[in-house]
Amino acid sequence: MTRHFLDVDDLSPSELADVLSLAAEFKKNGSPPELSGQTLAMLFEKPSTRTRLSFETGMTQLGGHAVFMGPEHTHLDHGEPVSDTGRVLSRYVDFVMGRVFDHDCLVEMAEYATVPIINGLSDIAHPCQSLADLLTIQELVEAQDASEPASGHGPRAFEDVSVAWVGDGNNVLNSFAIAASTVGLDLTIATPEGYEPSSDALARASDRGHSPALTNDPEEAVADADVVYTDVWVSMGEEDEREEKLAAFDGFQLNEDLLPDSASVMHCLPAHRGEEITGDMLESDRSLAWNQAENRLHAQKALLAYLDKNG
Ligand code: CP
Ligand code: NVA
Repeated sequence: MTRHFLDVDDLSPSELADVLSLAAEFKKNGSPPELSGQTLAMLFEKPSTRTRLSFETGMTQLGGHAVFMGPEHTHLDHGEPVSDTGRVLSRYVDFVMGRVFDHDCLVEMAEYATVPIINGLSDIAHPCQSLADLLTIQELVEAQDASEPASGHGPRAFEDVSVAWVGDGNNVLNSFAIAASTVGLDLTIATPEGYEPSSDALARASDRGHSPALTNDPEEAVADADVVYTDVWVSMGEEDEREEKLAAFDGFQLNEDLLPDSASVMHCLPAHRGEEITGDMLESDRSLAWNQAENRLHAQKALLAYLDKNG
């Protein structure tokens, strides 16, 4: 059966560890041209900077090729069924990555496709972002261990890291909650009431062994956090809710007043400075956002190579 990557739990815990370790290896030593002659189709219903470029560059570095198809380039938005598109693309290319409004579109495409369908962001999930996020946290832990060799507590692991999510319970968080639980991160989520992550994502996170703690109090969430993560308050497709959401998220901004001095800061980007995070915080030495963005490349190359070998 064809393997797909529609959300983080399409990889078992040991497969996720393998992908992360391959990503670290590619980052350190470069990657062989394992996908020579192979093609990735990239379907975009929404804008993207990082996802498009990291997948396209990644395919080039792996010896393959990527084809960009925006909404105006395919028949998908003009009446051709998803089922037909999935079958036809499978006759040409080796992988399909899609960024879509409706997650079910990817689920349906996966039912018909005979090549891996990869979720490049949907309304409810962003699993490729989670791979990069875990690689970034792993690097943070390794860097801290290297700088404190005499701390006496031995090498730290994901299980020793406390992460607070402060902001919207959106697609990025849904996938991150499952990823965090899979590797054993201690995750506390602070959202305004009514903006919690999906109950389905929380149940699947819990199935992976750890349940994130939920609160509506950002200060409580960040109190013991090693890392504080946020994303935009108004996601693509939610523009009509902008005023309502800006009011609801008052008090949830990552800024000097809220964050403990020692906490690192994560943001999947693009950021809205002055809304969910201050410019100072994003630009500070504590910001891991640029590493997260780079790690999209390494993590997705590892995912593609892994699916090619184990698809
Ligand atoms: N983080 C992320 O997915 O960025 P893009 O929207 O630029 O792809
Ligand atoms: N939650 C954001 C993530 C962008 C990468 C959105 O869906 O717009």
